[in-house]
Amino acid sequence: MTAPAPVLSARDLRIVYRAPGAAAPVPVVEDVSFDLHPGRMLALVGESGCGKSVTAAALGGLLPRGMELASGRIDAAPGVLRAGRGLAYVFQDPGECLDPVFRVGRQIVEAMPPADRRHSADRLRALLVQVGFHDPDRVARSYPHQLSGGMQQRAMLAMALAGRPRILVADEPTTALDVTVQARLLRLLADLQRSGNLAVLLITHNLGVVAEVADDLLVMYAGRAVESGPVSLLSSPRHPYVEGLLRALPRLAPDAPPLEGIPGQVPALGRRPAGCPFHPRCPLARPGCATAVPHPTRGPAGHTVACHVRAFPSPSESTP
Ligand SMILES: Nc1ncnc2c1ncn2[C@@H]1O[C@H](COP(=O)(O)OP(=O)(O)OP(=O)(O)O)[C@@H](O)[C@H]1O
Ligand SMILES: [Mg+2]
Repeated sequence: MTAPAPVLSARDLRIVYRAPGAAAPVPVVEDVSFDLHPGRMLALVGESGCGKSVTAAALGGLLPRGMELASGRIDAAPGVLRAGRGLAYVFQDPGECLDPVFRVGRQIVEAMPPADRRHSADRLRALLVQVGFHDPDRVARSYPHQLSGGMQQRAMLAMALAGRPRILVADEPTTALDVTVQARLLRLLADLQRSGNLAVLLITHNLGVVAEVADDLLVMYAGRAVESGPVSLLSSPRHPYVEGLLRALPRLAPDAPPLEGIPGQVPALGRRPAGCPFHPRCPLARPGCATAVPHPTRGPAGHTVACHVRAFPSPSESTP
C-alpha cells in the first residue's frame, strides 16, 4: 500500500537568525525534514529552545524578525501555505488569538471564508459543537473573559477551524491548562484530525501525550532533527537523547525505576558545540562526535536517526 501524498513536505530546512548589528547569522534550525499527511498528527518534541516554534512558523511564512529560511524547501498544494486559511495556528495563550472586546461568535465568523459567511449562524453553531460545546449559542454570545481557560482554548480551535484549513499547527496548546482539560483538548484534536482529514502538527514538551494521540514523531535537539518516524519508535528509540527523554517521564507503576533527568542543558543560540549538538550531554559520546555532525540515517518504516553511534547502516553496508 502506498501512503497518500503529503499535504506538506519540508526538506532540509535551515533557518538562520541575524541579530541587529551582528556580522554573521547564526543557525537556529538545521537539517530538519518532515511530511504532514491528511488525517495524521505529527508531534514535534524537544526541550525548550530547540527550534520547534521557529520550524512551525516557517511553514506559514511567520518567522520572527531577523530570521530567515536560508535553504531547504517547503512544498505544498496551492493555497495551503496561507496562514489563517490553508494553514491555521492554535497557540498556547488564547490571548494571542481572541480579542477581548468582541464576542466569541463574531470573531469566529470573521475567520470564515466568504462562502461560509452566507450561512454563518449555522456554520458557527456547527463549529462550536465540533469543539465540544453543548451550548453553542451561549458561547457565541460570550466575551472571551466570560469563558474558562479550557473553553477559551476550544473557542480558539473553532476559530482556527473556521477557515477550513488543511493543516492545523497546535503550538503547546495545553500547557497553561490543568491536566484533565489538556487531555480532553488533545483527544479533541486527534478526533478532528481523523474525521476531518486535517493534517495536525502538534508541538509539545510532553512525550507522554505524544504516544497517546500522535501518529508520527519528530524529536529535535538544539535545532536539529535527532530522531523521527512513526510514534511506535518510542518502544525502541535509537537516539540517546530520546532514551533520556523517556527515562525522564514520570510513571505511575509502583515498581517504576526512579526518574532520571538528562544532565546538562540545551546550548543557547550561537553557543552550539561543533559536531553532534548533543555530545556534551551524551552518555555514548565518542571522540568523533565532537567534530562531525551526524546527519539523519534511514532505517525501516520511515524511522530516521541522526547519531554516529546509533546510525542505521547505509544501504550499501547492509547489502551483503
Ligand atoms: N524572535 C526571536 N528572536 C531571536 N531569537 C529567537 C526568537 N524566537 C526564538 N528565538 C531563538 O530561537 C531558538 C529556537 O526557539 P523556538 O522558540 O523555536 O524554541 P522552542 O523549541 O519552540 O522552545 P519552547 O519549547 O520554549 O517553546 C531559541 O534559541 C530561541 O531563543
Ligand atoms: Mg515554542
